[in-house]
Amino acid sequence: MALTVVAYLLGSLSAAIVVCRLLGLPDPRGAGSRNPGATNVLRIGGKWPAFLTLAGDLLKGVLPVLLAHALHLPPWGLAAVMFAAFVGHLYPLYFGFVGGKGVATTLGVVLAMSPPVGLATCLTWLATAAITRYSSLAALVAIGLTPVYTFLWTRQPALAVATALIAVILTWRHRENIARLRAGTESRIGRKSAAPG
Ligand code: G3P
Repeated sequence: MALTVVAYLLGSLSAAIVVCRLLGLPDPRGAGSRNPGATNVLRIGGKWPAFLTLAGDLLKGVLPVLLAHALHLPPWGLAAVMFAAFVGHLYPLYFGFVGGKGVATTLGVVLAMSPPVGLATCLTWLATAAITRYSSLAALVAIGLTPVYTFLWTRQPALAVATALIAVILTWRHRENIARLRAGTESRIGRKSAAPG
């Protein structure tokens, strides 16, 4: 239980907002796609701020799950910690509960849950992004497949349920991206604005 709270508090540290504040960049919640995430920081501030954001959001997913492993939490305890880190990113305590879509944090959580599952998810993201140049679509495909990878690799229903719940909520958080993808107006990776491209 205590680690679930710690995971939520860690997840609440929005790397995008912190990095943009430290580097004097505009608040990502008010610029570009208005999403505090690495893709939007790439639009607003370029590669290095985006890399720092990605690293920070990955790390806050990795750390609590590694701690859960170290404490030998049972599968449902581990699942709760994973979900709490994700929820922290979406509804951060320190930033008025206005957070991001949870892609990098989910990648961190999944990499620490099971490196092979995390690797399969990352490779799916990279392949989809390389083919389509859409960050949002890559996230939807990769994290949509994570519950399948999780069940096939771990055979743990609790972990498959946690990743499935995360995938459903993450898809819902991408509803505006999905509408833009359907309309052909979603911006591609590397574009400066979130406008059609
Ligand atoms: O990581 C979030 C990504 O999937 C979409 O970001 O800024 O294009 O809405 P954005």
